[in-house]
Amino acid sequence: MLNENDKKNLALVAQLRASGMQDNSIIEFLDFGAGSPEDKRSEEEMAKGKRVQTTVGKLSSIGLKNEWSEWIYTLIKERKPKVVLELGTCCGFSSITMALANSDTKVYTIEGAKEIAAVAAENIKKAGCENITQIVGRFADVLDKTLAGIAPIDFAFIDGHHDRDATVKYYRQILPFMAKGSVMAFDDISWSDGMKEAWEMITAEAGADKCEHLGKIGICHID
Ligand SMILES: C[S@@+](CC[C@H](N)C(=O)[O-])C[C@H]1O[C@@H](n2cnc3c(N)ncnc32)[C@H](O)[C@@H]1O
Repeated sequence: MLNENDKKNLALVAQLRASGMQDNSIIEFLDFGAGSPEDKRSEEEMAKGKRVQTTVGKLSSIGLKNEWSEWIYTLIKERKPKVVLELGTCCGFSSITMALANSDTKVYTIEGAKEIAAVAAENIKKAGCENITQIVGRFADVLDKTLAGIAPIDFAFIDGHHDRDATVKYYRQILPFMAKGSVMAFDDISWSDGMKEAWEMITAEAGADKCEHLGKIGICHID
């Protein structure tokens, strides 16, 4: 149940997003993700990155909103994880949402594009969240070191690089660093055929009884 303070926190994130969406400045960066469901980027293309030019306004429209923002806020508020790992910071809105839900939670969030990470840093500063640590780099380059430095992880939110093989790889790579009784969540599991397959493969490995398909998000409970 959300109280007045929770509603105020969620409204702050919505207001930060709304103000970002008004920003028409141009931003150029290397996108290490899968692009759109139709893109079918090769592993090599994703590793090299694709140069993208857009506006801060358009970027600010990406990420968890409304009921999903409330969902992740409630999950953090109720479970009170000590350590959260997020793959895919973008403008920082989900990181801020999680950080505001419990000030004792430490949120570690990774973003590949340094220009986008700078936008997130501004938002994090405006929200006054001191419990967020930003890591800038491709997941492939920074994940190993991050995992070793922050484990055990109580909640992991995989929200970037929506490619089948990459998603399954991140699941396998992160799993040994998850705490007993922790949760891993995967956003956009129906975003593309590849993501649907990734979720099927993860469910098969984790055990169907340990996995829940909550709509666009899939979660695995780790014993
Ligand atoms: C969907 S957005 C994250 C949205 C954010 N979690 C939210 O809800 O506010 C995904 C982000 O992941 C980043 N990303 C995608 N593939 C990546 C990779 N291989 N390494 C590092 N960052 C990556 C993108 O640059 C993008 O900013």
